[in-house]
Amino acid sequence: MYDIRKISDDVIYLGCSDRRLALFESAYPIPNGISYNSYLINDEKTILLDTVDKSCSGQFFQNLEAALDGRELNYLIVQHMEPDHCALIEDVIALYPEAKIVCSAKTVALIKQFFDFDIDSKAMVVKEGDTLSTGKHDLTFVAAPMVHWPEVIVTYDKTDKALYSADAFGSFGAINGNLFDTDINFEKDYIDEARRYYTNIVGKYGAQVQMLLKKASNLEIKTIYPLHGLIIKDNIDKFIEKYDKWSRYEAEENSVLIAYSSVYGGTENAANILAGKLADKGVKGIKMYDVSHTHSSYVLSDAFKYSHIVFATTTYNNGIFETMENLLHNIAAHCLQNRKIVLIQNGSWAPTCGSAMKAILENLKGTEIIDESVCIKSALKEEQLSELDSVADKIISSLK
Ligand code: FEO
Repeated sequence: MYDIRKISDDVIYLGCSDRRLALFESAYPIPNGISYNSYLINDEKTILLDTVDKSCSGQFFQNLEAALDGRELNYLIVQHMEPDHCALIEDVIALYPEAKIVCSAKTVALIKQFFDFDIDSKAMVVKEGDTLSTGKHDLTFVAAPMVHWPEVIVTYDKTDKALYSADAFGSFGAINGNLFDTDINFEKDYIDEARRYYTNIVGKYGAQVQMLLKKASNLEIKTIYPLHGLIIKDNIDKFIEKYDKWSRYEAEENSVLIAYSSVYGGTENAANILAGKLADKGVKGIKMYDVSHTHSSYVLSDAFKYSHIVFATTTYNNGIFETMENLLHNIAAHCLQNRKIVLIQNGSWAPTCGSAMKAILENLKGTEIIDESVCIKSALKEEQLSELDSVADKIISSLK
């Protein structure tokens, strides 16, 4: 049975949710599932904005047939060529051979890489500022390179004052009936997963996100239609403000994230004692992760959130314990900036992980290692408590 939602006079939601997939992109845990959003504008012409992941194809084609209700499909706008959105474009064209594919020139090249159908005879190539009038609706195309791939366009509907934003302003999480942010508690129930989605998927491309935000600031936007997650109406300013912070690598919380890995508990003990000292000295909102227990996508997300980060780990194979090494490379690959960092190393006979951690982090722009003096030899000793006091004092002075 089809499962479509009328979301305005002319716009139908025909996306799908997947609650079975364990890892989005084979990389990111999605305990609350994921939605693949697709929209149909029913104007004098019919316009489909993106398809969905292959896993939802059965539901999607029932939805598309119901949404078109006997009409032909005139345009398929391909905003993003990642297969979670483009997987079904060849099948759509096979069913609706008269449809034109509206996309960027780079998308045409990518379609040729992913598919074998004749895109050249179907493509209507658009570039920054090009428009398409479909009757009542006037669509303008805006280039959004690297948000999240180079070919991306987003689409502004001047009539509805709506931005179809591709991967931007999306989130992990399936659609649970409620389609709009108006129906949920945005701060409590949405922003954390939206942050984890942004930071892990698009976080590296802050400069390009800033370019898109600049273009968006010239548009009057009443609704944002992303390709994942809820349709945004009430929290547009708040969400844009978050995107601005995240893409400038500016912390949201002036507080401390402590990320540790510990083989037999010695490093964990030091991390806990440091956290307690910080709390006793008045630091609020401290967050801690055992990075061997929590997937790095969550820790990375909070690394974008917190101003100060303590990394504590042990030496392993003459380097960094692997779960911490993975996290640090992940943070460096996402080009995190502007953080104050403390490194704590453990090593029973030849501690080397401190210098190895420093080598990964020291070139991050605007980032300062404010202390790297604590070296645990297997287990923290009473005489080292003063070292942790000194680290806590340095952090607190830097927080001020
Ligand atoms: Fe949701 Fe970059 O694809």
